[in-house]
Amino acid sequence: MESKFIINGRQPLSGNIKVKGAKNAALKIFPVALMTDEAIKVVNVPDIEDCHRAQEMLVALGHSVKNLGDGQMQIQRQNKTCLNLPAELVNKFRSSVMFVGPLLATCGEAHFPHPGGCVIGATRPIDMFLDGFAKMGAKVKTLENSYHLTAKKLKGASIFFPKVTVTGTESLMTTACLAQGKSILENCAMEPEIPALADFLNKMGAKITGAGTSTIKIEGVKKLSGGEYKIIPDRIEAGTFAILAAAANSGEIIIEDCEPKHLGALWAIFDRNGVNYKLGKNSIKIFPSAKIMAENVVTHEYPGFATDLQSAYTVLMTQAQGISLIHETIYDRRLLFCDTLTQMGADIIMADPHRSVVNGPTKLYGRKLVIPDLRAGIALVIAALIAHGKTEVSNIYQIERGYEGLAERLKNIGADIEKI
Ligand code: EPU
Repeated sequence: MESKFIINGRQPLSGNIKVKGAKNAALKIFPVALMTDEAIKVVNVPDIEDCHRAQEMLVALGHSVKNLGDGQMQIQRQNKTCLNLPAELVNKFRSSVMFVGPLLATCGEAHFPHPGGCVIGATRPIDMFLDGFAKMGAKVKTLENSYHLTAKKLKGASIFFPKVTVTGTESLMTTACLAQGKSILENCAMEPEIPALADFLNKMGAKITGAGTSTIKIEGVKKLSGGEYKIIPDRIEAGTFAILAAAANSGEIIIEDCEPKHLGALWAIFDRNGVNYKLGKNSIKIFPSAKIMAENVVTHEYPGFATDLQSAYTVLMTQAQGISLIHETIYDRRLLFCDTLTQMGADIIMADPHRSVVNGPTKLYGRKLVIPDLRAGIALVIAALIAHGKTEVSNIYQIERGYEGLAERLKNIGADIEKI
């Protein structure tokens, strides 16, 4: 039977909560295992559904994935790599597309359907990946329900991304490591997961410079070795817990094992909201605030305000004094969850698919909720935690795609939440 969360809201929250390894870093590191015959050890792997799917993908492609316990995995090629990415896995997470470049670079071929993932944008296209592979010399065939890519030998290329893309940057940077000659990628995404991936590839023998800036240069090498990779802390999880603490506004919450410096845009807006917080080197303390003030937000590529924090911030604004405009610039379906928040008592007007206006503060009330996607899901959990009464949350697979042991960790800071 399907699992649900039952949440009784308005319990005072306080205490310590630890941040896990970053989903969006882990998902980019697993495909790198296809590019070496040696073993790769990955440390601080979050125990989440999307990582399980990525590990299943590695097995389907002929690799062994050993769980060494305590968030450590060892991956090694076992059989000849398969060239088909299985549809049932590709449909479940968008970053399955990260496996394409390594297959193409090492086997000269990849066959895969359009990737799935959260339904937060009209189609979530992969045109910039396909254009990049074509520039590196791959033949790209778009079939009725899939793509077929072939390349005898990939060549380095100069690629200017027409739009900033996180996974696109990561995919072409990774693939270029085994292409012949030099690649220059311009208008790259700068999210912290990108230099983290580049650091690991460089440890394996790649020659990447500039990751974390908008221009990345890669000198192709003949082969890569194995290595060990420690996944960086999940900045979205840390930011989400900070927003939860501010929204609950009931006690001191200490968020541990995180990188506060990856969340500069959140601290800038918290200053304007009047949220009472203190940053340590690897921790964040949120204290009760006298009053939370409304403040507009515009989502932006890193280092701007992350789209992945927008939904949680919208919930915070339902508790703030005044009117805030939430401008979601990256995706056109990420504000749809506002309808559910309105059913819980929020006063939100949807101006258009990219902008909503929140009038706060309002009381929220528990309801029966169905989770539409990962980040809307965690936002609705936050709403339930601060709402009056009981909320029943279903389709929690979407939340478990990205947050490990959420109910347990929330219980530890005083939440009344049960997974049934
Ligand atoms: N886009 C294209 N063509 C492409 C690729 C992207 O038009 O070939 C568009 C997208 O449709 C979107 C924009 O470009 O409108 C930006 O998309 P991007 O490629 O940067 O997103 P992504 O790499 O697919 C990652 C995260 C997302 C996060 C975004 C933006 C991973 C696995 N996912 O997605 O995280 O929202 O960057 O920061 O890294 C999440 O964790 O909940 C999540 C959705």
